[in-house]
This record gives sequence, structure tokens and C-alpha cells, in this order.
Amino acid sequence: MRLSVARCGIRGSMLEQSDKFILVTGGAGYIGSHAAKALAARGFVPVTYDNLINGHRWAVQYGPFVEGDIGDRAKLLETIRRHKISAAIHFAAFAYVGESVRHPAKYFNNNVTKSLILLDAFVDSRVRHAVFSSSCATYGLPDCMPIAENAPQHPVNPYGETKLIFERALRWYASAYEFTFVALRYFNAAGADPDGKLGEVHSPETHLIPLALEAIDGRGPLEVYGGDYPTPDGTCVRDYIHVADLADAHVKALDYLQRGGASSALNLGTGTGHSVREVIGVAEEVTGRRVPHTIVSRRAGDPAILVADPSLAGKVLAWHPQYSDLGCIVRSAWKWRSEYLRKQAV
Ligand code: UFG
Repeated sequence: MRLSVARCGIRGSMLEQSDKFILVTGGAGYIGSHAAKALAARGFVPVTYDNLINGHRWAVQYGPFVEGDIGDRAKLLETIRRHKISAAIHFAAFAYVGESVRHPAKYFNNNVTKSLILLDAFVDSRVRHAVFSSSCATYGLPDCMPIAENAPQHPVNPYGETKLIFERALRWYASAYEFTFVALRYFNAAGADPDGKLGEVHSPETHLIPLALEAIDGRGPLEVYGGDYPTPDGTCVRDYIHVADLADAHVKALDYLQRGGASSALNLGTGTGHSVREVIGVAEEVTGRRVPHTIVSRRAGDPAILVADPSLAGKVLAWHPQYSDLGCIVRSAWKWRSEYLRKQAV
């Protein structure tokens, strides 16, 4: 993918009325809801469009809500028309790597076929800009660490493949139509809203940090997938990025596009990796409690190390993570867990 530098114009501090209303597909999900909060804080109106299969109605707190599926062209066109949408952030996707291997059809149908219906609706209704939630899973098993955006993209599971296919569709649409995009390739999204209003609730939960916190709460020991990787302590290394920093990057990417920035693909990570054992150590420090855990065999498809080179996002968007110290990530996730469990109990 050709990566280009922003062509930034000057824009006043007040948003133009036509730039204010942003369609947020999947805005009731984990990252989408945090992005909606960040958009509202900067004067945008996030219009959440979500089918609530994985999203939560309670997570829509910062703007109008439309219950709808991205495969429903008529509803999409009506929503875009009614809210005078000129830009969108597309989160709505299935995102379980393991499930994608067992049920590729589900992933190709939603993340490709239905996402193309959405993209056509954008082009047909003059939505000029889109920010797309992509993934480091598009790289597969890279040879070089940290991973830069020009690393070869050879996904090793259907989830990564579907994200890559949609990135490519965006590139071809952008070269043919009056349309620009930023594809944001997340590394390991983690943590929760620093104000405690939003957080991670997946069913089933598969991610390391919430599972470590559940283990502390007595849900059975955390299974550590592999202790024999070629890493300093034998466990996998990942680049954990706070969801509030991800949300901030989406708003910056949108602003960049609205100012005339060229289509780009950007990594979102910190550039620092942490092993599973390190995460366990930090969870124990933050909570003052032990994380019961046991080492089990490796999980299929887990590369030993995945760490981003995030320097391009720094240059293009002036994006620099503020909350992504591992202690800060785990503290916010722990705070959210307590808050969420309290709400559930009421
Ligand atoms: N892990 C465990 N035990 C668990 C869960 C995870 O040891 O119970 C380990 C994993 O092996 C991995 C690390 O913790 O090394 C992080 O695992 P997560 O499941 O939290 O996240 P992944 O790295 O598998 O997934 C992330 C994103 C995906 C993306 C993928 C690309 O969540 O969307 O990176 O590799 F596709």
C-alpha cells in the first residue's frame, strides 16, 4: 500500500455543520464505544449504527443510536441521509481469531461481503471519508520486529485475511472514487475508559488482561498458552495499547481526512512489548492479589512476538499514546471490572 503524507489545510476550531455527524458502525462495541466518547468530547456527533449482536445498548452514551446491520443497504442509506453523514468510522466486524478459523464463512460474510455493501453505500451517498478498524493480524507471522506498515501482509487466519481484503477494497475505491480512508492496524487493544464509564465486555472473553483479572476473582486459573517460546521468559510478547489511545487515534484520523489528508494505513501500538508473565506480574502489583495460573500448550496461530513500529502514526496524525503504560492499562481494566460487576449486581 502506498503511504502518503498529510495534505493538511487550515480549519477553524468550530466544526462545519456538515462535518459534525459521524457514522460509527459497531459503535456499541468495545473500541467503537470508546471512539464515540472521544468524538463527542471533540464536538462531533457520533451516530452509532450497530446490530447489537456483540455490542451493548448501555455502551451507546454519546449520541443517537440506530439498530441496524451493515448488510442492510436501505437502512444505511436512510441513516446517512437523515443525519447528513459525510464521514464514517467502520468498526462493525467479527473479531475472534480462533472462531474465524472454525467458521470462515461467518467472517467473510460480515467482514467482507457486508462491509462492501457499506462501502458502496458510502460511495453512492457521498460519504467522503472513512476510518477503518484494521489489525496487526493482516501481517501474519512477520520476519522483522518491530513491524512497520510496509512489512509484507500474509495473514495466517481468516480474520486477518478479511481485514486485509477490506483494506485492499478501500485502496481501490479511493483510487477510483472521490473518497479517502485511513486503515488503523491495531495491535493488542486493552484497558478501559479512564472515567470508568465504558470497558471491555466480551462473550466469550478470550483476551489476556480481562481473563487474568477474572482469575483473580476466582473464575479458575488463567491458562498461559505456552512457556517455551523463544522470548526472554518463554511466554508470548505483545504490544498492548490502551483503548482510550486507540479512540484518540480515530478522531485524529478523521480530522486528518477532513482536512484533506491522503489515504493511509497506520499501525497503532506503543513500540514496546510485554510478555504474558509480565502482564501477570503487573496485574498482581495493581490488585495486590495473586493471579492463579497454569502453563498449558501453545495456542495455534500465536506468533512469539508482535510489536508495532508506531512512528508513522506519530508523524501523520501527531498521535502519541498517553495511557498505554502497562500499569495504567491494567488499573483501568480493574477499575472497570469492579464498576461493571457492581452494576450487574444492582
Ligand atoms: N493468552 C494466554 N492465555 C489466555 C489468553 C491469551 O496466554 O487465556 C496469551 C496469548 O497467547 C497471547 C497474549 O496472551 O500471547 C494475548 O492474547 P489475546 O488473546 O489477548 O490477544 P491476541 O494477541 O491473540 O489478539 C490480538 C487481537 C486480535 C488480533 C491478534 C493478532 O485481539 O484482534 O492480536 O495476532 F487479530
